[in-house]
Amino acid sequence: MAGVLGGHQVVPVVVLDDPGRADDLGAALVAGGLPVAEATFRTPEAAAVLRRLAERSDLLVGAGTVITADQVDQAHDAGARFIVSPGLSTAVVRRAQELDLPVFPGVSSATEIIAALDLGLDTVKFFPAEANGGLPTIKALAAAFPQVRFVPTGGITADSAPSYLAHPAVSAVGGSWMVAPGLLAAGQWDEVTALRGDRRRLPAGLPHP
Ligand code: 3PG
Repeated sequence: MAGVLGGHQVVPVVVLDDPGRADDLGAALVAGGLPVAEATFRTPEAAAVLRRLAERSDLLVGAGTVITADQVDQAHDAGARFIVSPGLSTAVVRRAQELDLPVFPGVSSATEIIAALDLGLDTVKFFPAEANGGLPTIKALAAAFPQVRFVPTGGITADSAPSYLAHPAVSAVGGSWMVAPGLLAAGQWDEVTALRGDRRRLPAGLPHP
């Protein structure tokens, strides 16, 4: 995923229900130094939000919370450049592979990692990361699967992100902490733009291009 994400190691997980706000969000993320977004299929307008974000050439936009093959098609049509799922669906993975879209299914067990390997994948989302034991669980899984890279997401914060990223099996972390749904709903774009200088939300030691 690191390669797919152009080296970005922090992926904002976006929940936005108003496509009319996507332009402001995209501009704020770029200005805030975090020009990447996983736009989640959690609202009726998700595909429209994704499409608006994907219109920006300076923002790398993927689709998140993709749980059906039909949503893979919708995401592809809307311009998504990668697919993220909370779980491992063979139908979702196969459809993404047919469309040449990088796909990162969620796993939380050795069995699911083996299923991902069977599908030809070597990078998976580890979800929900904190609820599944966080970094100690990743360390244990990485010992058994040295060929696998993880993108932990779920419950990660600005404080915990650097320790995840310090593990060599972790390619990137995802999270909504820096784009909290309340901020987006309130249109507080200056708060998103201020990320770059806000060490509580994007610590200086937290690597991102
Ligand atoms: C996801 O789908 O990746 C998570 O909901 C993001 O987790 P967070 O909101 O706890 O950061």
